[in-house]
Amino acid sequence: MLAKRIFDIFREFIPNDFTISMMDATTMDTAKLQKANGLIIGSPDYFGYVSGYIKIFFDDMYSERSVFKGRPVFGFITHGGKGNAQKSLLQLFSSMKFQIIEPVISVTMDKINSKIEGQIQKNCLKMLKIIQKKS
Ligand SMILES: Cc1cc2nc3c(=O)[nH]c(=O)nc-3n(C[C@H](O)[C@H](O)[C@H](O)COP(=O)(O)O)c2cc1C
Repeated sequence: MLAKRIFDIFREFIPNDFTISMMDATTMDTAKLQKANGLIIGSPDYFGYVSGYIKIFFDDMYSERSVFKGRPVFGFITHGGKGNAQKSLLQLFSSMKFQIIEPVISVTMDKINSKIEGQIQKNCLKMLKIIQKKS
């Protein structure tokens, strides 16, 4: 639900020559991800860490990390009240040398309120600016 909300908000801002797509971690197209100008990566908080499927992305891509160096990224997590996975996600982003846009969008269950939507809008605009500056 949060991924879909972020996708819909981002779609409102993107210029016509941009394309965005949403991918499920269980059926990731890593070749497509390597070509993306920016990434938004999210996960439920499971045991204070990101989900196993998201971790696989980082495990598999670590040897290819030069591809992602300097690319803008922001994260989002859903959690049951603690949300420590946020720190893990930021550490994983750092390991890949992404250009990290903060804050991580952190939501308890399905509580996507106007404050969260405002954070999402800001992060999306920051990402667009970075991408447009690079191109
Ligand atoms: C196996 C498991 C472990 C979880 N561990 C945590 C946790 O350590 N901290 C936390 O805040 N929420 C935890 N939760 C709650 C989930 O983060 C929350 O239910 C989830 O974000 C909802 O998304 P989902 O419907 O995609 O699972 C856990 C849930 C499951 C199923």
